[in-house]
Amino acid sequence: MTPTVLKIAALAGDGIGPEVMREAIQVLRVVGQKFQLTVQITEAPVGWAGIDAAGQALPDATLALCRASDCILFGSVGLPDRDPTIPKEQRPERAALLRLRKEFGLFANLRPVKLPRELAHACPLTPERQGTGIDILVVRELTGGMYFGQPKKTEPLGDAAGGFRAIDTMVYTTPEIERIAHVAFRTAQLRRKKLTSIDKANVLENGVLWREVVTRVAKAYPDVALDHMFVDNGAMQLVLRPTQFDVLLCENMFGDILSDEAAALAGSLGMLPSASLGAATGDRVFGFYEPAGGTAPDIAGKNLANPIAQILSAALLLRHSFGLHDAAAAIENAVAAVIAAGLRTGDIFSPTEPGARRVGTREMGAAIAAAI
Ligand code: IPM
Ligand code: MG
Repeated sequence: MTPTVLKIAALAGDGIGPEVMREAIQVLRVVGQKFQLTVQITEAPVGWAGIDAAGQALPDATLALCRASDCILFGSVGLPDRDPTIPKEQRPERAALLRLRKEFGLFANLRPVKLPRELAHACPLTPERQGTGIDILVVRELTGGMYFGQPKKTEPLGDAAGGFRAIDTMVYTTPEIERIAHVAFRTAQLRRKKLTSIDKANVLENGVLWREVVTRVAKAYPDVALDHMFVDNGAMQLVLRPTQFDVLLCENMFGDILSDEAAALAGSLGMLPSASLGAATGDRVFGFYEPAGGTAPDIAGKNLANPIAQILSAALLLRHSFGLHDAAAAIENAVAAVIAAGLRTGDIFSPTEPGARRVGTREMGAAIAAAI
């Protein structure tokens, strides 16, 4: 059900966040006009921008805005150079990003990895290994596992050398595995109906439970072919034969690692959007949309960043939070058209590609907006 007003909280964050967010907002406004939607975008600081503005990575006012909105369009947070200036619990990754994931129960993270034909040169694999095309959906569990398990602490060893013991805890429960498995099977049904579940069942208790539960959930989806893979083999198979994968189901940490690897196969981390979804309440699902890449401080403020991951995240927002499939497709088609026309930010540019034209963040965003 599409509300008459789309209330979107836009949290640009740090590094390249504000630059790529500017382009995504521009694209959303153009789509809004074309499809006669009332798009109400309210911006608020988060990350180091939140700390500078209000003393907190997730200022109370920003959290209140998120609660009053239908969904969140997020940029990226974290500036490692500034980390030593505050305690680790207050740093943006934990105090803003992980907190928002937990606060809104965003357990299902969808990362679609697709290598456009025109970007074959940006893929590090040989053309033979790219086969007929790479098209993978990583479904990453986002609110469990080692990111959140307790205890999580660093304590002194009490030895003469002043050593420490650092503890992270990996925890998964049956219901947590079941609900993410259902999401993965349902999305596989809408794709090529193949699901590869990633675990480390040969070593971890968590892996054994993961495999048991996923196998049981599979019985409700007889049309989906399920296989299991140990995570180390999965990492290798991704570079050897990525075309064997359709949906990859991963726990939190494995999904973090494999989705970056998969993104590199699709040309660049700057191309990878993501949707993080909570449980449905009635016909509504609260969604959080962000590029899978980071703040890239080295290129921030230089008009070099690729805004496509942020813009495609806005497309996922229209589709998953509002069911606006045509509007979402309009953005995705505009991105495809601009790529086909040869526009390239630095991360996907190759001087040997015929017809390629190197552009900045603003020019790429403007071209996509114009193509809608
Ligand atoms: C991601 C990022 C985050 C994560 C960081 C920034 C905390 O790498 O979304 O993949 O590890 O989940
Ligand atoms: Mg990551």
